[in-house]
Formats: sequence, C-alpha cells, structure tokens
Amino acid sequence: MPDTPPMTRIKSSALALLPAIRSIVGDPGLLTDIADTAAYAQDWRKLYTGHTAAVIRPANTAELSAVVKLAAAAGVALVPQGGNTSMVGGATPLENGSELILSLTRMNRVRDIDPLDMTMTIEAGVTLKAAQNAALEAGCMLPLSISSEGTAQIGGVLATNAGGNNTVRYGNARDLVLGLEVVLADGEIWNGLRRLRKDNTGYCLRQLFVGSEGTLGVITTAVLKLVSKPRDIAVAFCAVADAQAALDLFGRFQAHDAASLQAFELMSGLGIEFVLRHIQGAVLPVATKAPFYALVELATPRPDAGLRASLEAVLEGALEAGIVLDAAIAESEAQRAAIWKLREEHTEAQKREGASVKNDISVPVSKVPAFIARATAACEKLIPGVRAVPFGHMGDGNIHFNLEQPLGVDPDWFLAQDHAIMECVNNVVRDYEGSFSAEHGIGRLKPYMMPDWRGGSELAMMQRIKRVLDPLGILNPGRVLPKEHLV
Ligand code: MLT
Ligand code: ZN
Repeated sequence: MPDTPPMTRIKSSALALLPAIRSIVGDPGLLTDIADTAAYAQDWRKLYTGHTAAVIRPANTAELSAVVKLAAAAGVALVPQGGNTSMVGGATPLENGSELILSLTRMNRVRDIDPLDMTMTIEAGVTLKAAQNAALEAGCMLPLSISSEGTAQIGGVLATNAGGNNTVRYGNARDLVLGLEVVLADGEIWNGLRRLRKDNTGYCLRQLFVGSEGTLGVITTAVLKLVSKPRDIAVAFCAVADAQAALDLFGRFQAHDAASLQAFELMSGLGIEFVLRHIQGAVLPVATKAPFYALVELATPRPDAGLRASLEAVLEGALEAGIVLDAAIAESEAQRAAIWKLREEHTEAQKREGASVKNDISVPVSKVPAFIARATAACEKLIPGVRAVPFGHMGDGNIHFNLEQPLGVDPDWFLAQDHAIMECVNNVVRDYEGSFSAEHGIGRLKPYMMPDWRGGSELAMMQRIKRVLDPLGILNPGRVLPKEHLV
C-alpha cells in the first residue's frame, strides 16, 4: 500500500462514505462542490477557514440517524451546524478535511403551537426569528432574543444555550426547554419530546444536551416554553456619564417594577460612534453625546399597566438625580426598532471598523462598572492605543468586552495578540468570580481555557459524560473539551 500522508488518508475515509450517505439523503441532501460547501466551512468571524468533503442536509430525523450510524461505523467525525453564527468557531470543520458537516437547515417545520399549554414544538432548522414570528401569530411570545436571530437556528441556539437580550427576565435558552428529540452518537434516536411543566423522573437528560455544542448528541426537535404576548411595551435610550450611572438606573427600574423589565443593555460612546459611522440609517435619538448609553425595555401582557408612564416616572427621577443626562422614549414601533438597531448592529459595526478581539464575560451585575474600569485600564496598558468597546446585557451581568485594534496597526498583528488580550481580561474576570464565556460557549476558540477555569472534578465529570455518550469521539471532537483531555 502506498504511503499516504495522514491528512489525505483521513479525508478519504470521509469521502468513501459519500455514496452511502447520498443513498440516504438523496441529491438535495448532499453538497460536495467546494463552491457550495465553502460558506458552511467558514465561521462568521472568519477566524477559521475549514474544509469538508461534504455538507449533509438530512430532511428528517430518520435520515439524520442513518447518517450518524454510518459515520459512527466508519469513525468519521461530524460537525453539527445550524445557522453558522458561532462566535467561537463551534460549528466550523477542521482545515484537514476529515470532518463532515451535518446541517439541520432542511429540518425546518414548526410542528405545533399550543396557546393553552404555552408550548411550541419546533424542528432544529427553524430560524429563531421565524420561531418568534410563529409564536406571535399564535398570540404568544418566544422570549429569547439575540442579535443573530434572523440567521441562528433553534438547534444551534439550544446546543449553545444562547442567552441574549431578555435573559434578565426569562433566563437563557435552557430555561425555555421542556423537551428534546436528540440523535445520539451511535445514531439512536432519543424521543424526549415531553411538554410537562413538572416531571421529576431521574436525571434531567435534556439539559445535558443544551449547551453541549453538539458534542454529546444532535438536537433535532424541541418543545419550548412560551409566555404571554406583551400588550404593552415601552423602550428608552438613555445617555449616562459612566457605567456606574447605568447600574444605578438599572437599580431604579428594578426597584420600581422588576416584573416589567424585559431588557437592560449597555453601550459605550465608542461603540455607538462605530454604529453611526458604519451602519446605514443609524441615528442617535438623543442630543447628548455621552461616554455610555443604556437601553431599557419594559413589557407586560397586562393591557392596563401604563408602562409609558412608569418609564417616564423612573427616568424623571433619574434625570433629577443626575444619573441620566438625556433620554429618548420610542413613540412608535419604528422608533423602537431604530433604538434596538443601535444596539444590535454593534457587532457588525465593529467588524467594519477593523480587527477586534472578543471577550464574552459575565460578573455579578453589581460588579459590572468596576470590571469595565479595571479591564479597560489593563488592556490599555497591555496594548497602548487599543480601543475598548464594552457593551451588552448589563441586566444579567454579561458584557461583551471587545477590544478594537489601535488605529493604524496591522490587523493581523493585532489578532495575533488574542490570547494575551483574553488572558488580560480574564484575570480581571477571575477577581470578580465571573465567567470567561457567558453566552457564546467554548467552540474551537476556548477549549484551551477549560483546564484553568473548570479543572479538577468539573472537567473530569465532563470528560466522563463525553466518553459515555460519544465513546468514539465522532461528534464535534475537540470542541468544548480540550482534545488531550478526552483519553
Ligand atoms: C451580541 O449580544 O450582540 C453578541 O452576543 C455580541 C458580540 O459581538 O460579542
Ligand atoms: Zn450577546
């Protein structure tokens, strides 16, 4: 036998599977042309340009299960993928072509919405936006909201336990899951599509798969909890002098009526400057340019709650106390959308401004201002001229502490500093007993941090779970858990 280099050998075992996979999923279920697969093999941030022999797109759970059985028998690794919006390369295949992408895109039916049970049964490939719209049409609300919701799919959202803008009120993705159907690493289908509010029957298996980033099983369908559709929504955009003032404002809204607080987001003056510069149609709704801004959204299903008056009352008090410098209240749905656009376009605007290193951290809510001050000073010392752009979900303590390259430096040089920058930020996070990945997960970018942060018995338990559920290591290997910890 000729001496084939290992990379080619691995890839040929993936290639050898394709005829059998084609016989399961048919032509529409298999993309092999590089012109078709390339976009699936690169992550949204363009940190990884992977390579794959094929993107497999099963039409249903039975097809998906048969594909996983084949891959398991051949020992070929699969990378489950939803909308491909991961911030940590969690759905991007390796560069050596050894992994096949398993796309859930064609499994995109909303199977059922029950407004009395307040549940939705939905397939993995439905986008979060489409799921939200379907719930609204049925008079309910799916209360998960993230910037990438137009593209992100339910399977990925659950596999990564997405958080987003409404965590302060409704929790993260895992808090909304009542049931799951999952294809296990040997191809077996686990039907756990129950829709019970109470079910105390042993270990809560569904929560193992939520947040596992496709390393333990492939989520194919879910039963999600819905809430009542809001009948009254009020949104304000507030200019504040610093992050402490934003926190004081948050405290006032919590004290006034915590139950109506649906989102409380923080933005920096620089982040807003980037949005105004790079995003068409973005307009600052207040006359005052400030170092920080807060977006507050109140919502309630009660028709008579008078949220507008509530919002005004709290803002008036905060203006009098000098906590808020200026504020604008949305007078229409269009104005509400325009305010949210300033927040949601932060990531895109930063991308257009230049290279940036992301830190998706959380600390106790009360520590957010101190964290921002200390992390900013530490990063400016590490890289003079670096531009800190803290923004995000202040109401739940999750700040995207992103660092934009200094003006005029080589973007590639700056990106090569990513480990040093992340360590610098994480050292501050550690002092506040925070998390180095609050909502974006671990993916390909951060497994090396796991021993440091989740070492000892925590990582050991995770390894044992992985070994039991995926003994051959064919599901998204090397993501979440560092490779050297798998054996
Ligand atoms: C967001 O909340 O907009 C994303 O999670 C952010 C990011 O770019 O880090
Ligand atoms: Zn976020």
